[in-house]
Amino acid sequence: MSSRIIMLFSVFSLFTPAVRSTGDAWILDCPSSTVAIAGQTTVIRCHFRGIKDISIFAVFLTKDTQDKTTFEMYRDKNSGDPRFSLENQKMGPSLQISETMFSDEGQYSYRVVTDSGDKEVEFSISVTAKYKDPITSTWPQTVTEGKLADLYCNATDGYPAGFIHWFDRSGTNWTMNSELIKVRNDSNGVKSVALSSKLTFKSIDINIAPFRCIVFNSKYVQDGESTLEIQSAIREETKDSSGSNTTNIVAGVMVIGSLIVGLLFALLCFRKRNAQHGRRPSTHPILNYEQGKASEDDLENGDNSFEH
Ligand SMILES: *[C@@H]1O[C@H](CO)[C@@H](O)[C@H](O)[C@H]1NC(C)=O
Ligand SMILES: *[C@@H]1O[C@H](CO)[C@@H](O)[C@H](O)[C@H]1NC(C)=O
Repeated sequence: MSSRIIMLFSVFSLFTPAVRSTGDAWILDCPSSTVAIAGQTTVIRCHFRGIKDISIFAVFLTKDTQDKTTFEMYRDKNSGDPRFSLENQKMGPSLQISETMFSDEGQYSYRVVTDSGDKEVEFSISVTAKYKDPITSTWPQTVTEGKLADLYCNATDGYPAGFIHWFDRSGTNWTMNSELIKVRNDSNGVKSVALSSKLTFKSIDINIAPFRCIVFNSKYVQDGESTLEIQSAIREETKDSSGSNTTNIVAGVMVIGSLIVGLLFALLCFRKRNAQHGRRPSTHPILNYEQGKASEDDLENGDNSFEH
């Protein structure tokens, strides 16, 4: 173990003599810019390069617009904004911000003091927010085939300004025909942009519905999407009239049916009464060859008896 360390050290010192005294041989490496998401934990991944055995004594994070340090770690004690910390002091100089806020946006300088000297780097943090799932609507609420229609797709609470694209049921891109309105809203340190996209049809073809609107963030990464079904006046009218047609037919069938039943009943009574009055049996016995035809015969007999 110790021999290995000695060997490592001697190899190291061959190429980079006096590492520990000047501290110039190693690098503090942090990403020059980090995109954070508001409300979430952000990690700024930093590494020591060119050195293995190194321990951190202290760190100082300062925003370029401020004199006071944003965050400090010194003698294992954190001070400053309590949302800031070292992700894992043993593992390296990576920084962690819990519940990232828009006010964390900016340019920072980060100084790390170690047992092998100290280094300072600069980096920037920008803060974004994801758009909520879009809400769709139409104007007018009930669209009529071949008439004017505005389709809306609104997405809020995202930042920075994003984009909304439109597609119909067959995947045809209608974005060119749409108009995007962006409304910025900064309140209580929370930045957001409300997106409202309007797709206008002078004469809408309802057969190409449903429409899909997709919300992208400022880097063209999809944040959400929504499907817009069209409430059609034409279709509803047809449904209504066909519905009442069915009702009419049912009513008609019922009326005719009850008339027939009534008539049959009346004839049956009539015939029974005639039979009771000692009327001769059927005048057409030849027709009584089938039992199933009994009622038919009854009818005929009835007819006959009416005539007689
Ligand atoms: C979407 O935004 C437009 C324009 O601001 C508005 O007219 C429409 O009512 C909104 N739709 C919904 C569902 O909020
Ligand atoms: C749809 O059209 C928009 C505007 O012309 C364009 O920016 C976008 O790339 C198109 N999307 C696809 C998937 O073709």
